[in-house]
Amino acid sequence: PVIARAYHEKVISHYESPRNVGSLNKNDFDVGTGLVGAPACGDVMKLQIRVDEQGIISDVKFKTFGCGSAIASSSYMTERVKGLSLEDAGKIKNTEIAKELCLPPVKLHCSMLAEDAIRSAIRDYQAKRSTMANPKKPGF
Ligand code: FES
Ligand code: FES
Repeated sequence: PVIARAYHEKVISHYESPRNVGSLNKNDFDVGTGLVGAPACGDVMKLQIRVDEQGIISDVKFKTFGCGSAIASSSYMTERVKGLSLEDAGKIKNTEIAKELCLPPVKLHCSMLAEDAIRSAIRDYQAKRSTMANPKKPGF
């Protein structure tokens, strides 16, 4: 069926031509960087967001040193969060990614990496903002 085929091609294209591969400058005041690893296999994912003054994610980049499913999961995540508020981006579940990409059960942790990475990027951005607001705050 045409619809199933179109869907399949969309999934495949995240594997074959991942979107938004690259880096943002982690020192920029409006950039949050998430760096996470999967203990199960040692794969590592870096995902970075740029956040505009309205708190909306305006740009996203990733670099994943890992399996095809981890790369496809990060590619999917970058397209999914662009244009979202931090709050909405932080609610995206790995199960959504796994479903969209038709990941088998053994590859669920690959999509978990993408969920961990976006949350970690959001936390990094928020920590950076609160440090800027309170330069003497201990712990940073
Ligand atoms: Fe990580 Fe597959 S175990 S690349
Ligand atoms: Fe470990 Fe995919 S992230 S096998």
